[in-house]
Amino acid sequence: MNQSELLNQLALSQSLVLTLVEQNTGLYNQQTDPDLSPLGWHLGHCVFFECYWLHEIILGNDKITRPLAKLYVPPRTPKNQRGAQLPPCDTLLDWVRQMQVSNLQTLLDMPSEVTSHPLLVKDYLLHFLIQHYSQHYETMIMVLMRKTLTETSSEYLPGTPLQSTEIAGDRSTISAGHYHIGGQKPMAYDNELPPQHVQLGSFQISSTPVSNAEFLGFMIDDGYQQADLWDKKGLAWQQRYHPSHPDHWRQDKHGNWYAVGVHGPYELVPDEPVMGLNYFESSAFANWAGGRLPHEYQWETACRLQKLQLTGHVWEWCQNSFHPYEGYQPFPYNDYSKPWFEGHYSLRGGSLHTRPAIKRPSFRNFYQPDKRFVFAGLRLVW
Ligand code: AVJ
Ligand code: FE
Repeated sequence: MNQSELLNQLALSQSLVLTLVEQNTGLYNQQTDPDLSPLGWHLGHCVFFECYWLHEIILGNDKITRPLAKLYVPPRTPKNQRGAQLPPCDTLLDWVRQMQVSNLQTLLDMPSEVTSHPLLVKDYLLHFLIQHYSQHYETMIMVLMRKTLTETSSEYLPGTPLQSTEIAGDRSTISAGHYHIGGQKPMAYDNELPPQHVQLGSFQISSTPVSNAEFLGFMIDDGYQQADLWDKKGLAWQQRYHPSHPDHWRQDKHGNWYAVGVHGPYELVPDEPVMGLNYFESSAFANWAGGRLPHEYQWETACRLQKLQLTGHVWEWCQNSFHPYEGYQPFPYNDYSKPWFEGHYSLRGGSLHTRPAIKRPSFRNFYQPDKRFVFAGLRLVW
């Protein structure tokens, strides 16, 4: 993409995040989940960081950002205090509308002394900002989703009740060998770099992610209660919360399952990938099915070989924890990836709520293993 296409993409990403807040002002400063920030904070944070890279880091002017850093730099204000510290909704919205427009103009008219800045080489900053907005956009959908989940009544009756099915047998075999994984600048985040050579043993991978109907089979077989399917931390999570179905699934008065989404209740399509699982539930399912979760290098290799169908419907949990690649260098800042290398697991692919800007074979998402609000499911390997 050339610079003017990227500027258009940035304008689109800006307006998606802005519009989401404009259309949900009732949730402006509300926390809908202890692990998620209020909508208004996400918007302020995205625009703050846009100003930070552009004005403070590249142009050397911290007038805009200095007074806002305490609120919008994540480690400096805990999630449960962010709502109370936000400015009034209209104040923030006015500031955002004005800054987003003027930042686009600033990006277009960069003074020639700074065009060799590392952040501007090959339009890196434009790619970075588009992706940063895109990631927060999806998190904001999660915020909305938590709200509908607590509000939706149980009157809904699905037309066709979901029936369980056997695990679909369609798999691809990937032979043992050396493969290339990783991203390319300027698109890639630091954690996708440098590109790697990896050595893999041969494996089989399912063509499609685990479906709703397949997951129902696990529920009916009491998979949630079979302790031997759960690893130690998963079992502790299981025993504390007693889950028995994906978080957003509900049962009607006849015992049939349906789901609740951002727009309310909907019917579960048997072949659609199951969603709303955390790492523990995903790995218990994989054990029950006699398979396992893919290592993220296996996932990326199979994806590059075009062996994966229905990618981009749900984030897919991988078996390994999020870690730096050999030769990893933090860029453009330490805190994008480095603080999360402990205690998080990698996810690949993307969900129906993921913007195209971050759907690529090398993109690595990461969350702690107990998080159920991610639009995530799994795929099996053997
Ligand atoms: C990778 C989605 C967990 O939302 O905290 C956003 C992405 N990093 N801003 C998050 C991120 C900096 C991150 N996740
Ligand atoms: Fe962020």
